Amino acid sequence: MATRALALDEASAFAADVRNSLTKPGQKELASKYLYDELGSKLFDVISLLPEYGLTRADERLLRRYAPAVVECIPGDTMVAELGSGSGTKTRSILEAFSRCRHTSYFPIEISPTALAMCRRELADIESISIVGFEREYLDGLVEVAARRRSGQRMLVLFLGSTIGNFDHPADLNFLKEIHLILNPGDALLLGTDLEKPVSRLIAAYDDSLGVTAAFNRNLLARVNRELDADFVLDSFQHEARFNSETRSIEMHLRSIRDQRVTVAKAGFSIAIREGETIWTESSHKYSLAEVEALARKAGFRREAQWVDGEWPFAETLLVRY
Ligand code: AVJ
Repeated sequence: MATRALALDEASAFAADVRNSLTKPGQKELASKYLYDELGSKLFDVISLLPEYGLTRADERLLRRYAPAVVECIPGDTMVAELGSGSGTKTRSILEAFSRCRHTSYFPIEISPTALAMCRRELADIESISIVGFEREYLDGLVEVAARRRSGQRMLVLFLGSTIGNFDHPADLNFLKEIHLILNPGDALLLGTDLEKPVSRLIAAYDDSLGVTAAFNRNLLARVNRELDADFVLDSFQHEARFNSETRSIEMHLRSIRDQRVTVAKAGFSIAIREGETIWTESSHKYSLAEVEALARKAGFRREAQWVDGEWPFAETLLVRY
């Protein structure tokens, strides 16, 4: 059965990634995309409610306020694709603004089947919007969505929540260039980016007083235990959030509080971890407005409009493909 074969593929890709990133020389790593299993996605939703973490609320505020302006910038028959739909709450305002003036198709692209189902349920009630979900990696999904384009139809791609900040340089630029290749001239990309702010505010946002972000981070080890039959002892790793001023990114690490050995049975390896050594699990880059514009221009987009939140510095930038 096709779906079963896909699940096996994914499990072995996960095993191979975990092996490579934990056994390479130097800094041990685990890729941040693996933070979002079912439990991790739920923990992220809780993070979005924390008083210290204003990012998601800023994103939602901007979309609520400026969705009509976004729709006005994109005339004519439009299909909307979203990279990483999450639970769908943010997208509601954009889709509602479209539904007020024309019938629109919405294509969420998401590797998590749980998130995809949640998003379908969340948005199903909006009139004159049809939803077709794609359980795919971002770019594979976008290629498939683009293949459904009717002639004369425009595409709006949503890439919200500052997910782009999780890519390092130049992976962020390369990713936008890939999107550029898939789009046609005149197509649009709405890009959400978290902006620079005082380091103390950032540290508080990524090391909250309830310990939800710590749980979100440690869940990555718990996931490796569950899915790859590993024996990480969770309470021998401490959550750490630090600001890297060279890359202007918040980094999450898990710091080992003792010398230990860990075996990852289903990936066929074991490693020694020293006391004080860290596993690097995420980078979240903080942009300046000039940087967003320069990045977009290098990838072949011009800035059509930009909106910034006053409470929590965050930008929504509407880009048009040259
Ligand atoms: C979902 C990628 C925007 O980088 O702020 C939240 C993930 N990590 N707390 C971010 C996250 C720790 C988040 N993004």
